Amino acid sequence: MTYPHTRLRRARATAWSRALHRETILTPADLIWPVFVTDGEGVEEPIASLPGVSRWSVDLLVERAKEAVELGIPCLALFPNTQPERRSAKGEEALNPDNLMCRAIRAIREACGDSIGLLTDVALDPYTDHGQDGLIDAEGYVLNDDTVEALVGQALNQARAGADIIAPSDMMDGRIEAIRAALEAEGHINVQIMSYAAKYASAFYGPFRDAVGSRGLLKGDKKTYQMDPANTEEALREVELDLAEGADSVMVKPGLPYLDIVRRVKEAFEVPVFAYQVSGEYAMIEAAVAAGAGDRDALVLETLLAFKRAGCSGILTYHAVHAARLLNG
Ligand code: PBG
Repeated sequence: MTYPHTRLRRARATAWSRALHRETILTPADLIWPVFVTDGEGVEEPIASLPGVSRWSVDLLVERAKEAVELGIPCLALFPNTQPERRSAKGEEALNPDNLMCRAIRAIREACGDSIGLLTDVALDPYTDHGQDGLIDAEGYVLNDDTVEALVGQALNQARAGADIIAPSDMMDGRIEAIRAALEAEGHINVQIMSYAAKYASAFYGPFRDAVGSRGLLKGDKKTYQMDPANTEEALREVELDLAEGADSVMVKPGLPYLDIVRRVKEAFEVPVFAYQVSGEYAMIEAAVAAGAGDRDALVLETLLAFKRAGCSGILTYHAVHAARLLNG
């Protein structure tokens, strides 16, 4: 049957009909909100390259966590802006049970109980004085196996403080298996692992590095461990390995430019897939809004919907609070 019997515009003619035919639904429960914690009390530090995003001291972060619960956001992703004097070549501060990350976990847990999940980043870049995610040799090459050992210690430190989801973002080989084994051995059987499985060496991470204070420190790039943006099959291998090693869910990062990867991973493995709409993506939307090139609310909701349509179970986004407010009406 062809035109005029078939008219696809019929279903689009009214709001009720569009609602009835809608395939993909976005809700606040799809959102993970990345937040930055800094030292001190009553401290809010705006991040110039991430307009609208601030670092908060633990006391203020607890208030933000309560707001997130009110809005129906199920999970926070925590990132520390480690004090400069606590950064070192080997990033030992990652193992300190009283570091910013652990203090934030305990404080939010005390205030919010189990009403919000806490996802913690495992990688050494917020703690090293060279800005790389792992331990380096004399040439600056990031050493895989030594780094994995440090990451295991970091993951256990976070689990002991009360983290719900351990999220290794370092891209070392074999780290998921090592972390899972250590978590099991210590009885953290219900602590999940969301692996940054397909993480690309991307130009979109700049504002994040400002937020955790690593941009000025970083020499060189991360191309010997993060993936080449040209590759797809390698992403499937990364995901396959991380799942076999014990990851409960996997992440693709960055987000919008990599929706093809999300879709391929979802179709190949049928597991929970998350995407990170990263700092540079957030900054692009805000820059477009500031330039009068688009409407913030519409851009935010459309981009987040696109992640769901591509197959994501959820999205890490700095727009989480704004989006949740819009979705809650
Ligand atoms: C590093 C890490 C990065 C991000 C999350 N974890 C940056 C990097 O790999 O240099 C980026 C997130 C963002 O840009 O929003 N372990």
